[in-house]
Amino acid sequence: MKRVSEYSALAEAEIRALDFPKGKLDALYAPIAYGMQAGGKRLRPTLVLMTADAFGKCPDKALRPAVGIEMFHNFTLLHDDVMDKSDLRRGRPTVHSKWDANTAILSGDTMLTLATKLVSDVDDSILRQVLDTFNNQALRVYEGQRLDMDFENQDEVALDDYIEMIKAKTGALLGGAAKIGALIGGASKEDADRMYEFGVMLGVAFQIEDDYLDTFGNADTFGKPIGGDINNNKKTFLMVKAIASGGANAEALKAALKLPAGPTKIKAVTRIYETMGMPAVSKAEAAAYSSKALAAIKKTSLSDDAREAYRKLIEKLVGRSK
Ligand code: IPE
Ligand code: IPE
Ligand code: MG
Ligand code: MG
Ligand code: MG
Repeated sequence: MKRVSEYSALAEAEIRALDFPKGKLDALYAPIAYGMQAGGKRLRPTLVLMTADAFGKCPDKALRPAVGIEMFHNFTLLHDDVMDKSDLRRGRPTVHSKWDANTAILSGDTMLTLATKLVSDVDDSILRQVLDTFNNQALRVYEGQRLDMDFENQDEVALDDYIEMIKAKTGALLGGAAKIGALIGGASKEDADRMYEFGVMLGVAFQIEDDYLDTFGNADTFGKPIGGDINNNKKTFLMVKAIASGGANAEALKAALKLPAGPTKIKAVTRIYETMGMPAVSKAEAAAYSSKALAAIKKTSLSDDAREAYRKLIEKLVGRSK
């Protein structure tokens, strides 16, 4: 196995080499290039490449599908930033704020189709399984995003419902990336399904950490505005868990949720989370899901060397600052 950073570098180089039509249709393609070439962690294509290599020693065969998975991710971000009214991503204006919402919608649609084409670049023998995996994860993402928006208008959301929502909006794509990598690597059906399970659990840990960083991160490194989730009444792990614990703090939180969006609201909610010790609770929950992710890896037939590579990846993600 290579180091995690080597798989990410392979993905990055392939993404940088993408060429988009220029000229009359610049308004369609320039936002796509802008979104794709703004960096980011490249977690999902890294998972595709790593997993193809872990099972079959063939990361090259997985390059185009890996870029397709990153293209799908970036498509969801163009639309997510409209839904979440987010103006900043990776330290730069989002597509809908640099251009407009119509641009984010249509360039996003185009990215979905480009993604499907790239992901389809696999051997005919596995094409149907790969496309099924891709389409099923995509449906899960949309379902999760719908629930995420519905939850904004609910005062209370059960922890189980929150976990189901993030398994869908974030876990499904990580699961799909790992499973597609496994299929390209020639894994058995059982192993491919275990890799999906791994990705979903990793996705849960990853989203809990993203929720934490949205309140407690550093805006410069995180690249997104701090407090956006609070302003949108998002039912993040912090919010769901704090409200579920009841008592005076939970009541204070519900009252703070009714404040108009702005710095006063962000400060009030953050203060209550701190009083309740939510940062540590959140870290512990992310760690618990990381262990579940690792447990899924241990059920596969992967070598110790490969298992160690996944352990390192998990460790890196859960301690991240961006
Ligand atoms: C952002 O994903 C969306 C979430 C699921 C939290 P990333 O945090 O992987 O974003 P980039 O691609 O690294 O910018
Ligand atoms: C996004 O969740 C998950 C997607 C499917 C895009 P978030 O809304 O928390 O992602 P960020 O924080 O904007 O990157
Ligand atoms: Mg969102
Ligand atoms: Mg968002
Ligand atoms: Mg977020």
